[in-house]
Amino acid sequence: MVYDFNTKIENDHLIIGDIDANDLAKEYGTPLYVIDEEKIRDNYNKLYTAFSSKYPDLHMCYAAKANTSLAVMKVLESEGSYIDAVSPGEIYTALLAGYSPDRIVFTGNNVTTEELEYANETGVTINLDSISALERLSTIENTKGKEISFRVNPMVEAGHHEHCITGGPKSKFGIKEDEAVEVYQRAIDLGFKPIGMHSHIGSEILESEPFMLAVETMMDIAGKVHQEIGVDFKFLDFGGGFGIPYEPEEEELDLETFTSDIIALYKSKLEEYDMGSPSMYIEPGRFLVGNSEVLLTRVNTIKQSYRKFAGVDCGFNTLLRPTMYGSYHHIVVANRMNDEPVEKIDVAGNVCESGDLFARDRLMPELEEGDLLAILNAGAYAYTMASQYNSRPRPAEVMVNKEEVDVIRRRESFSDLFNGQHVPTRLLK
Ligand code: LLP
Repeated sequence: MVYDFNTKIENDHLIIGDIDANDLAKEYGTPLYVIDEEKIRDNYNKLYTAFSSKYPDLHMCYAAKANTSLAVMKVLESEGSYIDAVSPGEIYTALLAGYSPDRIVFTGNNVTTEELEYANETGVTINLDSISALERLSTIENTKGKEISFRVNPMVEAGHHEHCITGGPKSKFGIKEDEAVEVYQRAIDLGFKPIGMHSHIGSEILESEPFMLAVETMMDIAGKVHQEIGVDFKFLDFGGGFGIPYEPEEEELDLETFTSDIIALYKSKLEEYDMGSPSMYIEPGRFLVGNSEVLLTRVNTIKQSYRKFAGVDCGFNTLLRPTMYGSYHHIVVANRMNDEPVEKIDVAGNVCESGDLFARDRLMPELEEGDLLAILNAGAYAYTMASQYNSRPRPAEVMVNKEEVDVIRRRESFSDLFNGQHVPTRLLK
């Protein structure tokens, strides 16, 4: 069985773009991240069209945290994307990738005053997450009359794992619903011009109900702020969270129905509160890049212990999601794509921790040393969450466009392990 929608098979081999994954592994070594440029563009256009065909004043702010490779940011820049930046580093990266400040929304949390200063200097839109940040922003020079936005907590909990639920009573994010009017009023009193409202409820959501509920709640909050204190919203930002199927039996989000329902609700709420027609922002991360990338890793050890293991040449330092969230990533054998699955096996990484598993009891073809595995859907929260744990340099990342390949992140070397380190001279005797 082969499960994927962005890959082809030729001569029993996995093909990415128009290139054999086995050739890529030979040429660039493993572990290797391989991202397909066309797939990113397709994803962008699919989501953009689904929303904008029903509400043209739509901006998609790519949630850069999913994948900050400059080349990926550039591809999305050329499609017309905006950016959702979570840190000064992401603002810097977006500017470097060619996004103008008016296309960048900075949604930090627990931000320092220095970070607010940086965001203010760069001219990006600042979306505030607390009253504390508002008060501190007001102490920064040249912020009088500044246009700002607030993140609210619409009290909807959704997401694939407890760690990824960002709405509801336990969440650290956003302003409480019953404080919204007061906070927007305070912003006006401090001389700001509030023009936006934002919410984001969680990540990897495959049903439309939580989104509908969040949009409804946020629109009621925005409507109240508009009617009670006259805030005119230029944009309303509903965050990201649009899920993708990771498991073979998972269904894709039904985009047509989903976007029709969301936009109908949006329009009816705008009308109900007489709010005009502000821009609609959304912040997809995973949806744009998740299924556009695979992680190639080679089996180096087959071990029959109390269980059967296939040991590969990377670990949770390279792809953390299975270990951190118990996330499922489908794995195919890139050099024997048509082999039937015959046995259950654990696919284990090379990090010195027992939790370093890419799959437990996974039904796979009979694996052999030297096989090339492709871990699918490794485009979002994969390279960006990689580390050098166990003193293993991070892998290379290549971008494929049909038959063209470019290294977009070189493989790190041992010397990269010591970047910025210093040994006190007294220890060098
Ligand atoms: N907007 C905000 C404010 C966010 O915090 C996030 C993700 C997004 C948009 C994009 O969400 P997406 O469309 O990608 O679901 N590391 C986790 C995911 C953490 C998501 C954090 N925030 C994972 O690997 O599943």
